[in-house]
Amino acid sequence: MCIKTSLLLLLSLLFCAAVSEGTQDFAVNVNNDGTYNVVVKGDVWLKSAPTFFRADGQVFSSADLSLKLVKITQSSGVDVIGQWEANSFLYQAGSSQIEASFVQYTPDPSIFTYNNPAVPFILFKQRYINGANNTASNKTDFTISGFPGFLIQDSSIPLGYLSYGGSQGGSIGLNVGQWGPSSFEIDDGIEGGPLTLFDRVKTANTLIISPASRFMSSSIWRQRSSTGGDNVYWGTMGGVEDVPVGVETSFILFCGNQGINKASVSWGQILQRWHGRTDQYMKSDFTINYLGYWTDNGAYYYYRTEKGKNHQDTMLDIKSYMGQIGVPVRYIQYDAWWYYWDNDHGVVTWSAQPKIFPNGMQWLYNKTQYPVVAHSMYWSSNTTYATANGGKYEFVIDGPKALPLEERFWTDLLADARKWGLFVYEQDYLRNEFEGINKLLTDIDLGRQWLTQMGNGAAKNGLTIQYCMSFPRHLLQSLEIPVVTQSRVSHDNRPNTDNWKIGVSSIFALSLGVVPYKDNFWTTSVQPGNRYNLSEPHTSLNAVVATLSTGPVGISDMIGGTNKTLIMKSVNADGLILKPSRPATAIDNRIRRMAWSDFEGPDGEVWSTYSDFGGKNKYGIILAADLQGSYNMTPCMAGYQGFPSSMVFPAKDSNKIQPLTDPQPLTMSGCTMTDFCLFYVSPVLTVNGKQVLIQGELDKWVPMSPQRVTDINIADDITINLTGAAHETVSFWFNVDGKSSPVTCTLGAAGLATLSFTAGTCRGV
Ligand SMILES: *[C@@H]1O[C@H](CO)[C@@H](O)[C@H](O)[C@H]1NC(C)=O
Ligand SMILES: *[C@@H]1O[C@H](CO)[C@@H](O)[C@H](O)[C@H]1NC(C)=O
Ligand SMILES: *[C@@H]1O[C@H](CO)[C@@H](O)[C@H](O)[C@H]1NC(C)=O
Ligand SMILES: *[C@@H]1O[C@H](CO)[C@@H](O)[C@H](O)[C@H]1NC(C)=O
Ligand SMILES: *[C@@H]1O[C@H](CO)[C@@H](O)[C@H](O)[C@H]1NC(C)=O
Ligand SMILES: *[C@@H]1O[C@H](CO)[C@@H](O)[C@H](O)[C@H]1NC(C)=O
Ligand SMILES: *[C@@H]1O[C@H](CO)[C@@H](O)[C@H](O)[C@H]1NC(C)=O
Repeated sequence: MCIKTSLLLLLSLLFCAAVSEGTQDFAVNVNNDGTYNVVVKGDVWLKSAPTFFRADGQVFSSADLSLKLVKITQSSGVDVIGQWEANSFLYQAGSSQIEASFVQYTPDPSIFTYNNPAVPFILFKQRYINGANNTASNKTDFTISGFPGFLIQDSSIPLGYLSYGGSQGGSIGLNVGQWGPSSFEIDDGIEGGPLTLFDRVKTANTLIISPASRFMSSSIWRQRSSTGGDNVYWGTMGGVEDVPVGVETSFILFCGNQGINKASVSWGQILQRWHGRTDQYMKSDFTINYLGYWTDNGAYYYYRTEKGKNHQDTMLDIKSYMGQIGVPVRYIQYDAWWYYWDNDHGVVTWSAQPKIFPNGMQWLYNKTQYPVVAHSMYWSSNTTYATANGGKYEFVIDGPKALPLEERFWTDLLADARKWGLFVYEQDYLRNEFEGINKLLTDIDLGRQWLTQMGNGAAKNGLTIQYCMSFPRHLLQSLEIPVVTQSRVSHDNRPNTDNWKIGVSSIFALSLGVVPYKDNFWTTSVQPGNRYNLSEPHTSLNAVVATLSTGPVGISDMIGGTNKTLIMKSVNADGLILKPSRPATAIDNRIRRMAWSDFEGPDGEVWSTYSDFGGKNKYGIILAADLQGSYNMTPCMAGYQGFPSSMVFPAKDSNKIQPLTDPQPLTMSGCTMTDFCLFYVSPVLTVNGKQVLIQGELDKWVPMSPQRVTDINIADDITINLTGAAHETVSFWFNVDGKSSPVTCTLGAAGLATLSFTAGTCRGV
């Protein structure tokens, strides 16, 4: 069969989203010559670029017909995501047969747990039927295949883009701008990540394109053409030298009509279902739930000890200091200074240097009783674990670096580390390991093997993993590795930097079911003798951001420099973090304002989150900081669609309540970094003819946290169950007809209490 045989005039994969206003929400039109376009709400957003595959040392492209279309077939079926229908184009690329399929899915509605509609999406699948040889491109940042691919042209309506890229979970090379040949700039290739396109209409229509499998070896490539006519492609990364028989790689194109945040969460939920990722490890990770003490970059004791003392004694002094002032730190992190490293700082042996911890890790754990988060880097070519150096495990050695090849290595290493209290293995410098071992760039499977072996080793030992300095591909790979529970999403915390600006990068982590980590922070501004010669003017902002992130809350003060009042706003008396139900993220209009300077969105950080107690019990939190001028925000813009009728009040004045509705938006102004704006949103209740707002524990950043409030019962009375430390005192506020007052609770020996609003009493258990 050949292309000239006209099979079908138009293979139309048209489909509609659940919500309909008469116009088609989203369609991908496929023609019988293999070209296609993407239509959103009747407008053509994207037109296909020529499909290409590299094989036998050449490029075969549909542009010059060197890529031969052999036949088109149709198929359908059902899988873990839902029903699908595929149109497959079989191509001949030199000696390779490769199938490019458009697979239309109707996803199972149970995938979407945030009340998001189950909208259809499309998968672009590349299948190497007999494999391909000599595929490598001359640049690892290119791709060896291009399907899907789109022309970078001005579209009929203005489109913006958000692209994750670079280190720290794609935050360092995060780009937001306008789609079009002169303005579309992304960190692509090895550093590249998911691409999001959105429009300017009220609730942004949003298109997300990313790999859906083989995350470590799939890339996005912004192709530049000297003849004009640039393209953006998705395919296998450019360094891959051959593709084994039967390899399948897929890319998802998801379209949502409820804004950028919601589309991203739905996209992530599909990928999580696909790869069987569950949040059980994230939910139970001790270090995500409790206050910690950190010694990484930005910390007072990063490569530094107290005067005249060693690291061991400094760590013991931290423990006793926290005890003295009654700050419930529950674990400790040891950074890159504790183990044996080599000239390139690669790890030689992952155990304590005697000059650092003379009595050893086990002794130290026994003394501090602190569970440990321990840092690790790439492995040195001199690592004592490698058979090449007399060790027991196979490694690839490449220049100064080495890469373990056996799962056994991780299992044994981490089993040993458990004995000294390891809870979380922190794998730092993921990008350097990836770029430093050439085989990771040329082999289609090795990257995935490396990270899954590490994950399996951790899982077997009941440990979890934090990724640091990861590219988006590492974070995407964690879809298959649920013990990866946390990831850094901004550059290292140096005092007085914008490391706290994680509102956009948190959306990516959140969507994959990984908690974002903002890094350590100081709780007092001036800490004399620090190695950075800096002070931190924004201690409160850092504390609130860490708490609202739902990730680790890690302080890093000098001994004598912890502000107990400040840190206790984040946690209960046991050190349990009182957090919202999901990470705070930048509102859609913030992102759109980053793309278009004339857009109505805020010129600065405006983030939202909420605590969800089921049903109508939804409590919002809005943070605005470093905001120029003022901004009016409706509940819809905050992502509070479906919330009950609510009122809003500033954290600083709980009497200052006002309605929050679309016609009565919240006006925010004067929101700086030192004096940021924090607002709480509570449903309006009526009890005995009075208007009542449950305002909660107002001396915490999150006054209504599921970690504190376990039950809310609203009838003639409001009864609320609280939990916390044994005998802890909780001051819990209500606003009645505009006036706020507290009910004071003392929890019982079991750390429980039930509060009655009408009686104004609280009974501890
Ligand atoms: C790739 O190379 C191998 C080994 O030389 C050969 O057996 C195989 O047929 C080649 N595959 C293709 C698609 O050319
Ligand atoms: C690298 O490959 C691209 C396309 O694959 C080609 O256009 C370019 O000329 C090549 N560059 C070199 C230096 O070979
Ligand atoms: C490994 O050890 C050798 C011999 O001591 C040394 O010359 C080399 O620099 C070390 N490699 C690294 C990466 O430090
Ligand atoms: C841990 O501490 C206990 C009690 O102080 C002691 O008996 C035990 O030997 C210690 N273990 C280690 C490994 O230091
Ligand atoms: C520390 O900073 C201050 C002011 O920023 C400067 O005057 C001083 O020289 C710095 N000290 C060192 C050791 O760099
Ligand atoms: C400690 O934090 C509290 C609460 O943010 C603040 O009011 C107080 O000024 C801080 N104290 C110091 C010494 O920084
Ligand atoms: C709330 O507390 C009351 C009284 O202690 C208890 O009977 C009830 O089961 C609790 N509700 C929940 C959901 O825990």
